[in-house]
Amino acid sequence: MCGIIGYTGGEEAVPIIIDGLKRLEYRGYDSAGIACQCDAKVEVRRCKGKISELDSQLSDFSGSSSTAIGHTRWATHGKPSEENAHPHRSDGIVIVHNGIIENYIELKQQLEGEGYVFTSETDTEVICHLIKKHSEDKSLTEALMEAIRSVRGAYAIAAMSEKEPGRIVAARKDSPLVAGIGDGECFVASDIPAFLAHTRKVVFMEDGEMAVLSPEGIEFLSLEGKPIQKETVTIDWNAAMAEKGGYRHFMLKEIFEQPRSVADTITGRLLSHRTGEINLEEFGLEDQQLRTLEKVTIVACGTSWHAGLFGKYIIERFARIPVEVDIASEFRYRGPILQDNSLFVSITQSGETADTLAAQRLAQAQGTKTLSICNVVGSTASREADAVFFTRSGPEIGVASTKAFTAQIVALYLFSVALGRAKGALDEDGARDLINDLLTVADLMEQTLLSDPEIKGIAKELHKNKAFLFLGRSLQFPIALEGALKLKEISYIHAEGYAAGEMKHGPIALIDDGYPVVVCAPKDDLYEKVVSNIQEIRSRGGTIILITNESNKAHAAGISDYVITVPDCPTHIMPIITAVPMQLLSYHIGVFLGCDVDQPRNLAKSVTVE
Ligand code: F6R
Repeated sequence: MCGIIGYTGGEEAVPIIIDGLKRLEYRGYDSAGIACQCDAKVEVRRCKGKISELDSQLSDFSGSSSTAIGHTRWATHGKPSEENAHPHRSDGIVIVHNGIIENYIELKQQLEGEGYVFTSETDTEVICHLIKKHSEDKSLTEALMEAIRSVRGAYAIAAMSEKEPGRIVAARKDSPLVAGIGDGECFVASDIPAFLAHTRKVVFMEDGEMAVLSPEGIEFLSLEGKPIQKETVTIDWNAAMAEKGGYRHFMLKEIFEQPRSVADTITGRLLSHRTGEINLEEFGLEDQQLRTLEKVTIVACGTSWHAGLFGKYIIERFARIPVEVDIASEFRYRGPILQDNSLFVSITQSGETADTLAAQRLAQAQGTKTLSICNVVGSTASREADAVFFTRSGPEIGVASTKAFTAQIVALYLFSVALGRAKGALDEDGARDLINDLLTVADLMEQTLLSDPEIKGIAKELHKNKAFLFLGRSLQFPIALEGALKLKEISYIHAEGYAAGEMKHGPIALIDDGYPVVVCAPKDDLYEKVVSNIQEIRSRGGTIILITNESNKAHAAGISDYVITVPDCPTHIMPIITAVPMQLLSYHIGVFLGCDVDQPRNLAKSVTVE
């Protein structure tokens, strides 16, 4: 939610900020702005719309600036408009903010009583006026420190003052912030890709920390003003990994990256290919801990929650211990019961999702061991969890999650085999066979991606439909849910995912002439049952799009209007493969409808507010 970036150094700041904001646009994209220090003044430009709009408005900007802050917004308080866009200003103070200030109404009333004039509907403006108020007799750093003592809520803030050229002061609580250290230049941003083209040396800021940036370097402070020593980490991604690389959209690039991304998730996680033994150190867990485990609780949001559902099926199947899966926003408020000898697993691509973090903290407060399956290195979830398993998918820029999802599934599969071995539910041969199956996944995905032109053709014929139903059973049920979520996110078509066996209990009422139903049904032990559901849909005029395995093609063709085949493979790895045509179908439908598939309306990639 919202992206912020600050730069101070020897280069022209405006292009650096604009480029950084474009790379943060996945966090929000309804309005944007920049504040630049030019001589002794700070100039602010803001607009409604995307960064490209801001960029074109800057064409008449002739000033020279080497210190600036920028913001791309996902509206929480106040509609997307120029007035509500950041940076906000109070005389010579300007700030950008990500997060929510919960007590802003009382602070606003207080400040209005003191004569401060508000020009926006945002919660952010109170922080700006508070800094201004305290800066009469204090430095920017002290004034920001003082200001945040009065606010309640979540924030990542970057501030500048006309009185202190070349300086940016930043602070964080419950919203991500990372600093970058270059040669004679420093950066602060919501996420690493914002400055990855300039430096790979980063410092992850923790809650309650401040950073004072100047071209000479960064000083980290506590909220009491005490210096803090921080570790500098060198990131192993390069800027090209966050580029489109010739693809029309990030989403398409990320779908096609999946063979490599799942291979990266597996690489180094096996102690021996021959025995299928998994390196538990990679999960930050010990065999002894797994042996005594009696329950697993998985918590996540959105697509990551769908991966969690897959986790339930696969862990219960291979490790034979009960698994509970919950949506983080439900879990955190329902007084969950976390029994002894249980493991809490958070699944989060960004590692910054507010509800998932709150759920993880709640589990920790109850003394439960936590494992985070996470993609973003240095993210809050990964730093706070007792143990972390990085999915290593590389940066996922498309707002709709694709490669992170399949990597999460692979991580859960590895975990289920490790747990199965530790619990004695799998013997060595069984584990080895399961791992050997997993090692074929990258190739199977490559083969599946070859069906892209065919899937595009089906999307062309179907894209004008107003609603879709997605059905799957057992391990294919989470894939049906994910298919429906992908379609609604990027094409704005109403789509529902259902367990195929539930169809008769309500959704069948939706079916009429031509109603499209995407069914994920490889030939497995439940296939015949799903075929009955298909017949029920067909006899009511529904259109069937059947995703099944290659050797079942002839049968599938006899009972459906469209068949998409994937290579034959064992049932337990099939969901990793069937996810791919689901993603491609949604992608092409979104593109045919002219939607912005990388940045769908109303969404943000990193949901850092409740
Ligand atoms: C859907 C999507 C979201 C995220 C959800 C959780 O395509 O991307 O549903 O999966 O917001 O995000 P993370 O995994 O970052 O916690």
